[in-house]
Amino acid sequence: MGDSQSEELIPTVNSNEQIIIETQGLTREFNETLAVDSLDLSIRRGELFGLVGPDGAGKTTTLRLLTGLLKITSGSGSLAGFDLATQPEEIKRHIGYMAQEFSLYSELTVLENLRFFSELFDVAAEDFALRSEHLLEFAALSPFRNRRADHLSGGMQKMLALASTLIHEHEILILDEPTTGVDPISRREFWDILAELYDNRTTVIVSTPYMDEADRCSRVGLMYEGRMVVCDSPEAIRDQLEGEVVHVRPDDWQAARVVLGELPGILETQSYGESIHLLVDSAEVRIPEIELALKENGVGIKEIRPAPARMEEAFISLIRGLAAHEDAPEKP
Ligand SMILES: Nc1ncnc2c1ncn2[C@@H]1O[C@H](COP(=O)(O)OP(=O)(O)O)[C@@H](O)[C@H]1O
Ligand SMILES: [Mg+2]
Repeated sequence: MGDSQSEELIPTVNSNEQIIIETQGLTREFNETLAVDSLDLSIRRGELFGLVGPDGAGKTTTLRLLTGLLKITSGSGSLAGFDLATQPEEIKRHIGYMAQEFSLYSELTVLENLRFFSELFDVAAEDFALRSEHLLEFAALSPFRNRRADHLSGGMQKMLALASTLIHEHEILILDEPTTGVDPISRREFWDILAELYDNRTTVIVSTPYMDEADRCSRVGLMYEGRMVVCDSPEAIRDQLEGEVVHVRPDDWQAARVVLGELPGILETQSYGESIHLLVDSAEVRIPEIELALKENGVGIKEIRPAPARMEEAFISLIRGLAAHEDAPEKP
């Protein structure tokens, strides 16, 4: 939906010209593992594209294939018009890539790291002076410019890695799990920076295991076991969720789960700390039934209310649907 709308907004441009990254049946095998399985991807110039999925889903492998760093087993793809398999040098010139295991120089200071990466990418001295100040400000690292990288917190190291990636300009930014292991406040700041870039029409592809971050993207691809489960705008993905979410905070979480397990109309149950999120066919019908059943079984309710579906619910539901589908033929 969102895509067709933006097409209408730019009627003079052929939509094919807007596509900056494209893959067809892109596949990478490691021994017997299909790390990336027949991926068809199409990303437009200026998108903030999120590649979301649990550990081992194939995010890093996908991004490494897109950078031309990793050999393709089968299928094909292109970035900025260059072939992933045969033109890795050209591709390198169009991208800024922040690897999941980005290595900073631990014994160098913040500013020295920035300078090192600017020299690596032949950034002119006057550009460096301007850009480094802007980035230090941007990444909230100005007061720490003379601190050694190994004396920074994990979140600050990720910020420095991002700043080092941004010190040279590029049309496409590929960031592999830039927020993994980072505290929630730094995570938010990091996404604020990405949102600013997005406004400047840089194409950004970012992977994350945190499903809540998907909401900050213009489009999201959910990966699971090497495959793309769904690829759409966050709104459209949430709309795919069948049913409604009910938030329950019982006084006895375990007892509540047992009771809820017996009730009709509950499609899924997920626990969030002391709360339980239920996916039900109809919140209006099921809330009174749930209240009654918990009461009858002596479980107190601190809170019960309909809740908006979150990305997490949509994703977990989609992944479970997939797993159930796969299991089905094996059952007698
Ligand atoms: N160099 C490698 N050698 C062997 N297996 C690998 C290698 N890299 C990734 N894999 C496997 O491929 C799958 C996808 O891994 P990865 O792309 O790192 O996923 P993610 O980034 O989503 O956590 C995993 O099963 C992983 O063990
Ligand atoms: Mg990874």
